[in-house]
Amino acid sequence: MILGISIVIFVLVEGILIFSIIRYRERPGMPNPFQNHGNLKLELIWTVIPTLVLFVILFFTIRGLLYVAPENEPAASASQPRMEVTAIGHQWWWEFYYPNYHVTTADTLEVPVNTTVHVKLFSNNVIHSFWVPALTGKTDVVPGHDNTKWFVAEKEGTYTGICAEYCGTQHANMRFNVKVVNNNDFQTWVSGQQQAATAPTDALAQKGAALFKNQCASCHGIVGVNLKQFYNTAQECTDLPGGKANGTPQCLIGPNLTHFGSRNLIAGGVLDNNTENGNCDPNNPKLKEQCNLAKWLNDPQGIKPGNDMNIGSLTNEQIQQLVAYLEGLK
Ligand code: CUA
Repeated sequence: MILGISIVIFVLVEGILIFSIIRYRERPGMPNPFQNHGNLKLELIWTVIPTLVLFVILFFTIRGLLYVAPENEPAASASQPRMEVTAIGHQWWWEFYYPNYHVTTADTLEVPVNTTVHVKLFSNNVIHSFWVPALTGKTDVVPGHDNTKWFVAEKEGTYTGICAEYCGTQHANMRFNVKVVNNNDFQTWVSGQQQAATAPTDALAQKGAALFKNQCASCHGIVGVNLKQFYNTAQECTDLPGGKANGTPQCLIGPNLTHFGSRNLIAGGVLDNNTENGNCDPNNPKLKEQCNLAKWLNDPQGIKPGNDMNIGSLTNEQIQQLVAYLEGLK
């Protein structure tokens, strides 16, 4: 409605303007134009009409505000159960912790369909904003302030989410997905995620695992390797990055990678985990061009300048080993 009103006014005003520029342009030998020092009637008209138009817009705005005003969170029922998740805003990626299942993941929030998802919003750095346009409005994620958000997804599918509050240079690259699946698939996913990482069997991946322990484990966690269990960054780590809360577990700066190979997004949502078509086969001769994980490992600062992944340059062999290991963590 507002767009329609604006278009009519725009066309009218610009039309008269263009007409006047052409019709009343100065030509040789023209007399001085009529000198006008005010016209009460005209001035009243061009004050009253815009005022009325603004009232009409106000009406539609208030109606829109009432329409999007948050309802109370529905109580859990058999047809619409309720689950809890903590969304943790990092600079610049989203971590998701499921307190009832003790699972930590990153970049993709997986939830069952027709379920009230109660999201606790946590940040210990700067203000972020949690926004999934197709599912719910935005709510700020404020350090030291417990905001929450709830939503119900009525259709299975993948919905795009993004940080909607400027939080530093890579704010625009702080994306995530909400993946809505049926209840059975969700339970299967949860029980898979709850497992510790499996030890690799092939030689290349074993070298990757050793490399991970040496070079990556001070920032990233893998349950079964350098972590005993999943933990809740929001509650158990008050002193990120790199600190320790409650003695153990260690609070780590980067995403938990226990089931890295099962994820669709990597690098805080800027890259797809594109393992299809043998892209990320460690023996792919074009590994560094075709496999996003290899690209990321090769030059994380080139892809996302300013992010916390400061690693020295890796050799092609090291990248092959890490790709073999990490993509195998299903
Ligand atoms: Cu986080 Cu913008």
